[in-house]
Amino acid sequence: MIDGKTLGLAIESSCDETSVALSLNGREVLANIISSQIAIHTQFGGVVPEIASRHHLQNINTVTDQCFAEAADRAGRKITMDDVDFIAVTYGPGLVGALLIGVATAKAYALAAGKPLVGVNHMQGHICANFIEHPELEPPFMSLVVSGGHTNIVQVDKYNHCISLGGTRDDAAGEAFDKVARVLGLGYPGGPKIDKTAKEGNPEAVAFKRVFLEDGSMDFSFSGIKTGVLNYVNGEKQKGHEISVPDVAASFQQAVLDVIVAKAVDAARRPKKLAVAGGVASNSRLREMLTRECADCGIELYFPSPVYCTDNAAMIGCAGYYKYLEGGIDDLTLDAIPGLPMEA
Ligand code: KG4
Ligand code: ZN
Repeated sequence: MIDGKTLGLAIESSCDETSVALSLNGREVLANIISSQIAIHTQFGGVVPEIASRHHLQNINTVTDQCFAEAADRAGRKITMDDVDFIAVTYGPGLVGALLIGVATAKAYALAAGKPLVGVNHMQGHICANFIEHPELEPPFMSLVVSGGHTNIVQVDKYNHCISLGGTRDDAAGEAFDKVARVLGLGYPGGPKIDKTAKEGNPEAVAFKRVFLEDGSMDFSFSGIKTGVLNYVNGEKQKGHEISVPDVAASFQQAVLDVIVAKAVDAARRPKKLAVAGGVASNSRLREMLTRECADCGIELYFPSPVYCTDNAAMIGCAGYYKYLEGGIDDLTLDAIPGLPMEA
């Protein structure tokens, strides 16, 4: 406790960022250290799971020390493990070896310091990222979760309860961005590169198919558009035509976002509140389109800042806080669950 507020220590290591955060009452972040491995994995064109685990192991204690030091600066007083009320950790979904480093570290701290352990669902963490900068935001609301592994429309009923109304049947949005970026020779991670390149292109240059699936369905499918881009690029090459990378990037991005925005806005008509989450929530065109559409439909729109869209421990601390308040304490048998469902 600090000044009567609950202090949470949170750990995130589900993919390629090692992150540790300290926050008060879930929403007031004292420190949120993110050690990214992007530079390491870029040379392989994607995340190599074994390398990610090894770097989490090498970094986690240093990142934790850095987090306590930065939080002390911010709070203007020394902060130690004695002040911590609970320890939250991502236990899924994610890469099993990467998750295990965070889970084992959190268990070791919890056991050594005698603190309650709270296992957090990474996807629920992404949604909770919205609470950090929007003190007025409270459930119920609709959430659009768009990341490297997920594209879901989620009904958030209570702080600890959500229902997924639809998800992708094949590739996730971020995965499609990453794969198309590779086809266009833009490199890894593809999402930010497509976002930037598309700004110089014409979104109407190439008419890629928008896949809406059955009437009223909140599911998504992005594998077709990925193949569509590949066929277009190869077809033009065979004809000896030069392609405009910015035009293809802009047209692909627009086709994906037309579907995502239409479905998210449709789903948010009833609660009239939409909170966007996940790595792809950083996309500037998505932000632009949703801002316009939601204003037209009278829907309140929430986005985390880019630092809270990417994988980070502060969002895990926030989700962990609400679970802790409801007595959702785990014991030391807590294990990593790589395929943990959105609602678990
Ligand atoms: O949420 P996140 O950091 O990790 C997962 O939990 O998956 O999301 C990573 C994904 C990657 O596919 C990355 O390319 C994508 O988010 N991404 C973006 C942007 N920034 C990150 N996609 C589109 N536009 C962006 N600006
Ligand atoms: Zn994530």
